[in-house]
Amino acid sequence: MCGIVGYVGHREAFPIIIKGLQRLEYRGYDSSGVALLNGKINVYKKQGKVADLLAFSEDKDTVSSLGIGHTRWATHGVPNDVNAHPHTSQSKTIALIHNGIIENYDSIKEELSKRGHTFESDTDTEVLTHLIEEVQKKERVSLFEAVRLSLAEVIGAYAIAVIEESNTNEIIVAKKGSPLVIGVGENEFFLASDATPIIEYTKNVVYLEDGEIARLKIGEEMELKTIENVEKTPYIQELELNLEAIEKGGYEHFMLKEIFEQPKSIADSMRGRLDSKTAEVKLGGLAEYEQKIINADRIIIIACGTSWHAGLIGEYLFEDLARIPVEVEYASEFRYRNPIITEKDVVLAISQSGETADTLAAMKLAKDKGATVLGICNVVGSSIARLSDAGSYTHAGPEIGVASTKAFTAQVTVLTLMALMLGRKKGTIAESYYRELISEIETIPAKVESMIGMNDYIKELSAKFKDALNFLYLGRGYNFPVALEGALKLKEISYIHAEGYPAAEMKHGPIALIDENMPIVVIATKKGHYEKVVSNIQEVKARNGIVIAVVTKGDTAVKEIADYVIEIPEVAEPLVPILSNIPLQLLSYHIAVMRDCNVDQPRNLAKSVTVE
Ligand code: F6R
Repeated sequence: MCGIVGYVGHREAFPIIIKGLQRLEYRGYDSSGVALLNGKINVYKKQGKVADLLAFSEDKDTVSSLGIGHTRWATHGVPNDVNAHPHTSQSKTIALIHNGIIENYDSIKEELSKRGHTFESDTDTEVLTHLIEEVQKKERVSLFEAVRLSLAEVIGAYAIAVIEESNTNEIIVAKKGSPLVIGVGENEFFLASDATPIIEYTKNVVYLEDGEIARLKIGEEMELKTIENVEKTPYIQELELNLEAIEKGGYEHFMLKEIFEQPKSIADSMRGRLDSKTAEVKLGGLAEYEQKIINADRIIIIACGTSWHAGLIGEYLFEDLARIPVEVEYASEFRYRNPIITEKDVVLAISQSGETADTLAAMKLAKDKGATVLGICNVVGSSIARLSDAGSYTHAGPEIGVASTKAFTAQVTVLTLMALMLGRKKGTIAESYYRELISEIETIPAKVESMIGMNDYIKELSAKFKDALNFLYLGRGYNFPVALEGALKLKEISYIHAEGYPAAEMKHGPIALIDENMPIVVIATKKGHYEKVVSNIQEVKARNGIVIAVVTKGDTAVKEIADYVIEIPEVAEPLVPILSNIPLQLLSYHIAVMRDCNVDQPRNLAKSVTVE
């Protein structure tokens, strides 16, 4: 969490930093701040959004061609002006921004306090700033060296940028566990948590590796070394991102834009992976590992949140089509559970951001125990992508709205392709059924497009439920994870309490909640236990619950008993989740907008959860 930006060069730093922070607000938005060097270090910080910082800075001196900025998601210390970054050293001549957690800050703080340091904030970050100054004074070294030596004492995760008053053309950056990209321009450098603040200025970037530290100095080449003092050569690569992809493009919210983009993002996640002549699925990134997966004792899927829901759909797909046993684990539980993992296991991490701390840690654990670790990731070059032995990108394009939509459907699409590929190679799927699924999957983008056309209808429906206090989501089989995801989407952006359940489990508890005020979204598409779900709807109606049913086009039985229906196009059962999820995204979106919630930046959340 937290977003960091920095600039040193010949341009005005403040507007670059503010714009960059606004692009990174998805990473945290409870407070923000900048430090600008112009003779002395001016620090401006404000609780709230970057817009609040901008308003606060209006009458301040913001002239500078060197600065660093931060948008915060609080870990240590409540969100207020004082705890906002940047933090400064005891003498106020060093300023620092930080994304991550310094785990041993308490003991360092105690030591520094004994030596006369006093602290203003409750943060772990301020301690690191003081430590750097202390080391610099004691060892009489440059800022670069002082940062390096200080980081050798630090336990935890960080992406940091440090400046000092006497150094008018230099920023020191370092990374371990949190992302950091450096943009290399003509006699100028940019830095950020991801490439979005950099893209309009330069396409040449260096992704810092864990344990690396760099000096960005005007008039000199970037100097790169490890914390252990081993010199390295920076690897400059070209960005593929374009500006359009990270802007709203006329939509009111990124979330709506991303929902509407799904016909394209799903097509993109399949592009070049289906051979229309041979009906073969080719996932280039996994080619070398196909046999390993086929022979695996089991696939363990690790993920968090929405990606975990995609993983659950993966379980149905792999078991159904490829007959490979699957376990789906919350990365946060898996990593601390002393799990039994062997070399015959294949561990598959799923992550949109590729930076989720729990997923990364779970992958490392699996690797240490000898498992093959694969990744399904959206962000190219992200930590999870780099840690994987092999994997597939989802190619959904940048997802800015905090609530995941198009990344989820792209994950499910890639999982479906993977299951089809494995099933055919393993011979667990009849060729005729395989070909039917291949030709159907190609129709998915058009079918999603037709569902986007239901937006107005779902908006009308949403108006009826915007004041509900609770929601229940029910589904069976492939639609059970869709129910979980529908409930998560609603609660995270509208703050309405919602729960997802396997429909048949309702009678073991949640049925007690049902009364005439309870809206219940039931995914009751044809095939896949349809009759059983119809019975579940009868049970709800017998208790006066209000049923919003997602049904297959042409359905008659559910239409007769449900209060409202949303029709989705007919499609083979394993492909249903991609479609049945779309109306639930729209329902959550409209309800949240009608409740005046900030759908793109829901309270307390951040897009990239880089703390555990
Ligand atoms: C919910 C949502 C989160 C993420 C979770 C994992 O809409 O987006 O639940 O799915 O934080 O993030 P990634 O996929 O980046 O690992």
